[in-house]
Amino acid sequence: HGAPALGQDLDGRRVVISAGGTREPLDPVRYLGNRSSGKQGWALARVAAARGADVVLVAANVDLPAPFGVRTVPVGTAEELRTAMRAEAKDADVVVMAAAVADFRPATVAPDKLKKGSAAEPDSVPLVRNPDVLAELVTERAAGQLVVGFAAETGDADGDVLTHARAKLARKGCDLLVVNDVSAGQVFGRAHNAAVVLAADGSATEIPHGSKDAVAAGIWATVVPRLSGFPH
Ligand code: CTP
Ligand code: CA
Repeated sequence: HGAPALGQDLDGRRVVISAGGTREPLDPVRYLGNRSSGKQGWALARVAAARGADVVLVAANVDLPAPFGVRTVPVGTAEELRTAMRAEAKDADVVVMAAAVADFRPATVAPDKLKKGSAAEPDSVPLVRNPDVLAELVTERAAGQLVVGFAAETGDADGDVLTHARAKLARKGCDLLVVNDVSAGQVFGRAHNAAVVLAADGSATEIPHGSKDAVAAGIWATVVPRLSGFPH
């Protein structure tokens, strides 16, 4: 391609982003879920597309219209998200795991609706672990591919937010980890956000509080110089 237009610093880059939150079925009408709205992942997709990227959004239960020019792959469960991400990530330059993936799912899914007073009435729900999609994507990543994880952390007796986040970055093996401090209250569903981007090389980039589009722009500004072949 020719010279990219001004601000098109993701021109020709292939970006895959997961967003939203998975739902793990218990019976045909019920699920275990989480409160992720998908707004931050959506903003990342919208901003990347505006900056010239070829964007695929793997959307777990997100109730938002697809951003302009973005291909959306709808998924429900962690297993579905895993299958879609592994397929879409194959030829991507950047993979972003912004989705809230359920750590556990019900061990069995009842074929019929669980009814009060029936023999199938449960008094507890056995759970099994879901696969760690981010860790898998890291082990499967193509040469030069950048893998970005997300973490919502709180400080506790074992350490502050960044201490926990550094340990998570090392555990997951991704290149960058976008950290949201949720100690002061939850960010789920809010229009505004702030973050710190930790890199495997030890650096930390603070993204100031702003709209989710502004935070997305800050995240991409941290990612772009690390892309293979930069400047592009
Ligand atoms: N993630 C994933 N698959 C999972 C769980 C998490 O891909 N089964 C990804 C998330 O999309 C996110 C990152 O891993 O990008 C960190 O998620 P988080 O829930 O903070 O990490 P966990 O390893 O599940 O740690 P915790 O026990 O603190 O929940
Ligand atoms: Ca988790």
